[in-house]
Amino acid sequence: QIQPVILCGGAGTRLWPASREHHPKQLLALVDQDTLLQATARRLDGLTGFSSLPPLVVANEEYRFVIAEQLRQIGHASRIVLEPMGRNTAPALTLAALVATADASDPLLLVMPSDHVVRDLASFGRAVTEGAVHAAQGAFVTFGILPDRPETGYGYIRAGGRCTDSGAACHIQAFVEKPDAATAAAYVASGEYFWNAGIFLLRASAWLGAMRRLHPTIVAACEKALAAARPDHDFLRVDGAAFAACPSDSIDYAVMEKLADHPDLGAGVVVPMSCGWSDVGAWDALWSVADKDEAGNVVRGKALLEDTRNSLVMAGSRLVAAVGLDNVVVVETPDAVLVADKHHTQSVKKIVERLRRDG
Ligand code: GDD
Ligand code: MG
Repeated sequence: QIQPVILCGGAGTRLWPASREHHPKQLLALVDQDTLLQATARRLDGLTGFSSLPPLVVANEEYRFVIAEQLRQIGHASRIVLEPMGRNTAPALTLAALVATADASDPLLLVMPSDHVVRDLASFGRAVTEGAVHAAQGAFVTFGILPDRPETGYGYIRAGGRCTDSGAACHIQAFVEKPDAATAAAYVASGEYFWNAGIFLLRASAWLGAMRRLHPTIVAACEKALAAARPDHDFLRVDGAAFAACPSDSIDYAVMEKLADHPDLGAGVVVPMSCGWSDVGAWDALWSVADKDEAGNVVRGKALLEDTRNSLVMAGSRLVAAVGLDNVVVVETPDAVLVADKHHTQSVKKIVERLRRDG
């Protein structure tokens, strides 16, 4: 039995001005009609071979109504654990593991970010099926994407030997979260590393066991926050004061990087996955993953294009006309318009930082 866990925090600052603090990336329909959260929940419908419980969503309480409404629209029962503030993904997963263990006996947790795109659901399903075999035996299963550039915002996984003769899954030799640019470049050049897709499959007991050993204060804070939690319709609101005392840490730093030094906690396994994955970190990534017209343009909303190629034009509230553009991103919203060279869209976060600083 699989208990999906959807992590829904974070803002996605490089997708400004569409993504805002109060309306983050995962709640936007960027690639098709579904929002990224809806697409994440639907991704589970196609999984075969095991029964999947309704997803457990762990989210910031600020987004509770939008999340519940988006899941209702696609006919998904929602069970939503609400955090009063973000403490990063390790506490979020710890809350989910504790809740899931209370309902079912030690389920496999399929941990999914809410803000990714997966184009090929059949490949995704095959990778999860293969991973489940290892996770059931206590392994910490990750999914590896072949890197095509030295991105520093990802985890890097060095794959060792195959776990079995017939499967593609490999032992993890090293897990390095967010290396610096030179290290990332060396990893990509070596051909020995995968990117960590940010999706994990593990037994609730394996996660809790590792956390109790490596980060007992996080587990204690989460247990306290749940003991004093208040049920509120479909929501479970964890106790604010107890959760505020929880240290921040991510799944990757808190556990994945440390497995190599603690083999008794469980093996690290990477299942290679080629499924049209993207974490749509910036506008150029959205352009890459979205369907394009014959001229290579991605167009959303009311837009008129002339002699324009390889561009992304999103009209949110007004008619947008573009003439003679190549590799340009235009994103129009009621109160802000972004015009950017498509190859420089990573720098949009600098604009967001300036807006935060200067108001
Ligand atoms: N509930 C909750 N609470 N969710 C959170 C929180 C939190 O405090 N912080 C982040 N999340 C959610 C985000 O919304 C996202 O869906 C997911 O957890 C991952 O968090 P990110 O903050 O986006 O992580 P990252 O992109 O820096 O790194 C992770 O993903 C990469 C791939 O996209 C790591 O796992 C990397 O190793 C990986 O390569
Ligand atoms: Mg991310």
